[in-house]
Amino acid sequence: MLSIAILGSGNGSNCQSILDAVQERRLDARVVCVLSDVPDAFILERARRAGVPAYPVDCRPFRTKLDGAAEQSVLGLLREHGAQVVALAGFMRMIKRGLLDAFPRRVVNIHPSLLPAFPGLESWKQALEYGARVTGCTVHFVDEGMDTGPIILQRSVPILEDDTPESLHARIQVEEHLAYPQALQWLAEGRVSIEGRRVKVRAG
Ligand code: GRF
Repeated sequence: MLSIAILGSGNGSNCQSILDAVQERRLDARVVCVLSDVPDAFILERARRAGVPAYPVDCRPFRTKLDGAAEQSVLGLLREHGAQVVALAGFMRMIKRGLLDAFPRRVVNIHPSLLPAFPGLESWKQALEYGARVTGCTVHFVDEGMDTGPIILQRSVPILEDDTPESLHARIQVEEHLAYPQALQWLAEGRVSIEGRRVKVRAG
């Protein structure tokens, strides 16, 4: 059974979708711990309610990356809980070499656009302002770049005439909550391999 650690900074709805999928046996995995750089983030509360160990991690003095002593304490917790895969779920910091080397091709992220379009922050807003007709979400492996790693799974979302950033983000999140547990289940089943930039998913 795949042991997943989740890192997030906010509401944790994607974390919840993973916890629910495990609970409902749609995802053959266990969530071994949830870590947050924001001590009062709701994602930690969601973990506690599900009986999963939850840890705030002090990431200072850095503001936008996980590095130095904080990276070391995250690595310590991941090892202590036997994590095999690290799932970023709204984690608002760049992941550096230390964690990537410790979990080669085992750090994944969900991003609220169809990458490589609209990397970075508030991608739903970027897509709307750009005038795109379709956007969506992407589950991808994490590398050192910003939202640049090999793509595992994407789900599309049409952009409607009367969409606001909020309405569009809400519909993207519906798809995220389907995509992330699905991609993790593929990993749990050992069906995922990487050839160059291309991710191959063996038929189940
Ligand atoms: C999601 O839109 C995800 O794609 C992005 O951050 C948001 C996190 O939402 N990386 P939540 O905390 O999972 O509700």
